[in-house]
Amino acid sequence: MIDLSRYIRHGANHNGSDEWRTPPKVFKILTNEFNFTHDLAATKTNTLCDNYFVDSLSVSWKGIQAAFCNPPFSMAEEFLQKAHEPDLTVFVIPARPQTKYFIKNVMLNDYTHEIRWCHRGMRFVPPAGVQRKISRAPLPVVVVVYRNTQRTHEIRQTVICSDTLLQLGVIAKGNTRGRPSLYDMEQIDAISRLWEKGTTNIRELAALTSIPRSTVHRIVQKLNV
Ligand SMILES: C[S@@+](CC[C@H](N)C(=O)[O-])C[C@H]1O[C@@H](n2cnc3c(N)ncnc32)[C@H](O)[C@@H]1O
Repeated sequence: MIDLSRYIRHGANHNGSDEWRTPPKVFKILTNEFNFTHDLAATKTNTLCDNYFVDSLSVSWKGIQAAFCNPPFSMAEEFLQKAHEPDLTVFVIPARPQTKYFIKNVMLNDYTHEIRWCHRGMRFVPPAGVQRKISRAPLPVVVVVYRNTQRTHEIRQTVICSDTLLQLGVIAKGNTRGRPSLYDMEQIDAISRLWEKGTTNIRELAALTSIPRSTVHRIVQKLNV
């Protein structure tokens, strides 16, 4: 049986640590590709680039050409909200498609250009001073490439090896134009939650979610099974 507690128990919020380090080989491969100048989540002792910030969240990242970020996993959302600021940023983060912040900041973000889904858990290096065998992280990990220009095509999505970052397969080439949703995911999600709780009147749903009645009608037809 899958131990789900292992999946959610990571980062400082879950009795874990935010100090796990990027595997050196993973960083080397990525910096060979992107030429990072800044490590956006680091201390003086664990920075992987010449430049880092003592409190990265309190400074602007605009003007940075190429940044790397393996954020504290308990603060991934805060770091991701600034991902579009540098010209290019590459994040190594837990894949959490069940959360609103991952959907908004990764999957439905116009500045997300690539998602590389890792096969097998990444072998993060234990925090400095912690004697522990390096084993694979129990949580799924993605490498996400952001640019400060809005995407005009779909997100390129691939599957890669978590050790060598070798591309194992292509999910979406990223060369066809995407069709962004007109409405915010939270507006659409609100309809299904209200519906589940018994609000079925279209006029009422439209008023509560600020979505036009004709659209609510179409959504409700799908809910009405
Ligand atoms: C997952 S570790 C990554 C360490 C290293 N840079 C690497 O990639 O191997 C995240 C680091 O971000 C640091 N950190 C936490 N809050 C931060 C902040 N506001 N600004 C910059 N770094 C922060 C943590 O102390 C921790 O060392």
